[in-house]
Amino acid sequence: MKDILGELENRREAARMGGGEKRVASQHAKGKLTARERIELLVDEGSFEEYDMFVAHRCTDFDMQQNRPAGDGVVTGWGTVNGRMVYVFSQDFTVLGGSVSATHAAKICKIMDMAMQNGAPVIGINDSGGARIQEGVDSLAGYGEIFERNIMASGVVPQISLIMGPCAGGAVYSPAMTDFIFMVKDSSYMFVTGPDVVKTVTNEQVTAEELGGSGTHTKKSSVADAAFENDVQAIAETRRLIDFLPLNNREKPPVRPFFDDPARIEPSLDTLVPENPNQPYDMKELILKIADEGDFFEVQEEFAKSIMTGFIRLEGQTVGVVANQPMVLAGVLDIDSARKAARFVRFCDAFEIPLLSLVDVPGFLPGTSQEYGGVIKHGAKLLFAYGEATVPKVTLITRKAYGGAYVVMASKHLRADVNYAWPTSEIAVMGAKGATEILYRSELGDKDRIAARTAEYEDRFANPFVAAERGFIDEVIQPRSTRKRLARAFAALRNKKQAMPWKKHDNIPL
Ligand code: HXC
Repeated sequence: MKDILGELENRREAARMGGGEKRVASQHAKGKLTARERIELLVDEGSFEEYDMFVAHRCTDFDMQQNRPAGDGVVTGWGTVNGRMVYVFSQDFTVLGGSVSATHAAKICKIMDMAMQNGAPVIGINDSGGARIQEGVDSLAGYGEIFERNIMASGVVPQISLIMGPCAGGAVYSPAMTDFIFMVKDSSYMFVTGPDVVKTVTNEQVTAEELGGSGTHTKKSSVADAAFENDVQAIAETRRLIDFLPLNNREKPPVRPFFDDPARIEPSLDTLVPENPNQPYDMKELILKIADEGDFFEVQEEFAKSIMTGFIRLEGQTVGVVANQPMVLAGVLDIDSARKAARFVRFCDAFEIPLLSLVDVPGFLPGTSQEYGGVIKHGAKLLFAYGEATVPKVTLITRKAYGGAYVVMASKHLRADVNYAWPTSEIAVMGAKGATEILYRSELGDKDRIAARTAEYEDRFANPFVAAERGFIDEVIQPRSTRKRLARAFAALRNKKQAMPWKKHDNIPL
């Protein structure tokens, strides 16, 4: 009798070999793990359930019927991350360069459909030479099918892309539509057209790393949300991120056991804001001091550093944080920081993650480059994102909240639920110096008089009480009790429900 069990094992063994020893060794020599090694690290031990291991392409052009590797260059299935389900696809560069054929794309689409139906995130590990050249338009159609699923899944299940090798041409548009992109330093790149085409068309000479490496995308383009030293670190951080996220848009974010007293008092916060209003201080210190166990997962840390975005937990529950950073450009809002924060706010709102805004903002950055670059529309993105968000919104002003930026940063007027201020807050149309120079232009020659006017303005407006008298600030709180007050505010908002008027969708200023 035929040994069918033996045949199954042999076939599985062949599929697991990927492109064979030589290509696996070459992958390792580049500092990269294989598709299967990456999955093993990503999901809990023994939890991976593979699908379509024996799928092979059906191309007969270029003698491709002679070369039909099992699995067709991508490993797909599901597993768990700390016990919670995720779907995964991992492109295998050792098999036909991880290139995307019609069947390779169909495998990815299959698990994306399952993820949508069963309400679990999709983690895509990208390491591919792009469209399988031998398959031509069939490959392009496959990409199109993946793109459409990326769009349908957006806001339904979290989508995370790990770029762990080449990702070029139209292929970049699948990760581009996912929620988070992580890259690996020195071994990954993303670009629409490579260095050779760039040279031909624009005569610019640029390396692949300069054009689309992790440094470019985390610091300049903001395409990627973080870059890590190697595959292992990138995967470990992906697991850490997943722990903060709900599995889908119908589920609340996970609640983790916590060992940090929500009522913990932090006396050092009483002196965080310096006496001199022009002296910077590190807002990250505040984030770390209020977070459970000081755990902050920062997103886009290297881009638009005048604003910080990321996740913390309060009483074990995930909170999305948006915080102006006075250490960088005095915490100003500009095109980049507004775009960065707006996207983060929308992600949190889509996945029912409550929002904490920590505000110390002197206004919008002036200048022709900002105006020509469309700061009006980009600034409006953040305003729009905050105003439409229906998740619990708690805001704390620590120092400056001036002008339009005061309104934009999750003010009461944009349906924020609880707005706190520290006693050091200055909530006004602008700073004292600027205000007196406009109001008392005719007295500018008289230094003493202007100094007196400035002091008068500071006395009257550079505080939180004018806003508090109007109810725009719910309470002026002691810095030391911030963690306790925030935890209680979010606890009180756990059952918040807020409706939106009927619409097909909004028209956010893109
Ligand atoms: C078929 C491919 C392939 C592809 C690589 N391979 N890319 N096979 N289609 N797109 C195969 C190679 O023939 C080789 O096979 C193996 O994968 C490894 O490739 P190498 O070139 O030896 O590896 P390396 O030197 O590391 O270079 C990697 C690379 C290069 C930079 C990615 O392979 C390359 O430039 N590939 C073509 C990239 C490309 O132009 N793709 C189309 C982009 S447009 P053997 O058998 O020798 O191991 C696109 C459109 C998407 O993707 C549109 C969406 C709408």
